[in-house]
Amino acid sequence: MAANIRLGDEAPDFTAETTEGKVNLYEYLGDGWGVLFSHPRDYTPVCTTELGAVAKLKDEFATRNAKVIAVSVDPLDSHRGWVNDINDTQGTTVNFPIIADPDHTVADLYGMIHPNASDTTTVRSVFVIGPDHKVKLTITYPASTGRNFAEILRTIDSLQLTAKHKVATPSDWKQGEDVIIVPAVSDEEAKDRFPKGFTTLRPYLRYTPQPD
Ligand code: BEZ
Repeated sequence: MAANIRLGDEAPDFTAETTEGKVNLYEYLGDGWGVLFSHPRDYTPVCTTELGAVAKLKDEFATRNAKVIAVSVDPLDSHRGWVNDINDTQGTTVNFPIIADPDHTVADLYGMIHPNASDTTTVRSVFVIGPDHKVKLTITYPASTGRNFAEILRTIDSLQLTAKHKVATPSDWKQGEDVIIVPAVSDEEAKDRFPKGFTTLRPYLRYTPQPD
């Protein structure tokens, strides 16, 4: 039975065969952040570009204390051959584990198969997992649409900032831009918490420079 994982749920732990050997999710993530993302199939064009893109962003994920791990329902031998193609065609070296999930164990744990889209392959799911192993963000794309991994880095920036400060990030926010003070913070408290000051457009819409 496929799970329906929602925000705030504990990310299901698992141990699986990957291109980097047997990996236990929680051990792999340690006390950092994680991005678990699924691919419909090996040797498919969009997936090839996505895995290449993620390999090139390794330093960006590392700066955020985040590790990535991919999953595809094909077996390990297939992954190994495909990684050579990814490296050749995308001009990179895949530097993170790709889970072999031919029996759909991980796909079912995370509800990555959407039967009305396809009952044999996963959709393009993204789960951002916090250091507390709780699911912080989910995104689902169809097989035909490659993901924007800059957006996933941006969401991690927001998640990490908003975990630390009583702020939220506005539409299209990027690192370094002004943020919003959450409505639960009174103006009095905001004066203490945000010494750089704040601008009130409405009582519920107050901007302050990004803390830190
Ligand atoms: C792809 O990765 O290119 C792809 C996979 C499944 C369906 C359509 C495209």
